[in-house]
Amino acid sequence: RFAYVNGRFVRHGEAAVHIEDRGYQLADGVYEVWAVFDGKLADAEGHFARLWRSLDELRIAHPMSEAALTMVLREAVRRNKVREGLCYLQVTRGVARRDHAFPNPAVLPSVVVTARSLDRAASEAKAAQGASVISVQENRWGRCDIKSIGLLPNALAKQAARERGAIEAWFVDDMGLVTEGASSNAWIVDAEGALRTRDTNANILRGVTRYTLLDVIRESGMVINEKPFTIAEAQSAREAFITGAGSLVTPIVQVDGVKLGDGKPGPVAKRLRALYIERAR
Ligand code: PDD
Repeated sequence: RFAYVNGRFVRHGEAAVHIEDRGYQLADGVYEVWAVFDGKLADAEGHFARLWRSLDELRIAHPMSEAALTMVLREAVRRNKVREGLCYLQVTRGVARRDHAFPNPAVLPSVVVTARSLDRAASEAKAAQGASVISVQENRWGRCDIKSIGLLPNALAKQAARERGAIEAWFVDDMGLVTEGASSNAWIVDAEGALRTRDTNANILRGVTRYTLLDVIRESGMVINEKPFTIAEAQSAREAFITGAGSLVTPIVQVDGVKLGDGKPGPVAKRLRALYIERAR
């Protein structure tokens, strides 16, 4: 395997950044994850648009143009012989003597790209079974719209989920409303049959998969209600599912130990998964 680090491809096992990288010391950086279908990056532009925005919000310089970065990502996919999988990009503010404030003058941002294969057949089989989520209290900062590498609350939430046999944890805010998952956006098909997902004016990540799926949903004439929901509403919903570059569209059949309906993935989630994959391919 190979990884891209600051201008060149090196063997994955030997890929490294300096110990005084601000990503390592301060989580001062951002990332993106692309799904790879048939060797191609899914929703490429959407992820780039969000990357530039995350960098701008943190005043980290763009390390290179979109065209150049696209070449690097494609090369990472090619060198690792990824047909079906994921491509990861991380940009940090760079290497500088430890100081919370930005280095002045600015240093070059550090760029890391990796790509790995996934067993799509296995993920399809898993998705067909449906998965569980648990709820955890929202405890993240106020800028979840920035795709920051500071993921400690997300990591703790995901671990709590794993320890309870769930694939995802849903953060629940002070109002009792679900914000999003630790690494995905949260959706239900409510009692009226409308698709519900939280609006992105809230403190959540603007999921690229979420936006593409909204297009797919509109085109197929289904009703969308961008409104948050409670855990109780999810438990009594017709269906639930999560979206993200890793999970694509994954049906949820259990929320905090309560089965939804008959405990099997619903027709809407199954259909949307198929439509999303068809669109992304
Ligand atoms: N996570 N919300 C959070 C907190 C996320 O971390 C992610 C993605 C999403 C979905 O965003 P998108 O549809 O653009 O992938 C929502 C990536 C996959 C990860 O952390 O691995």
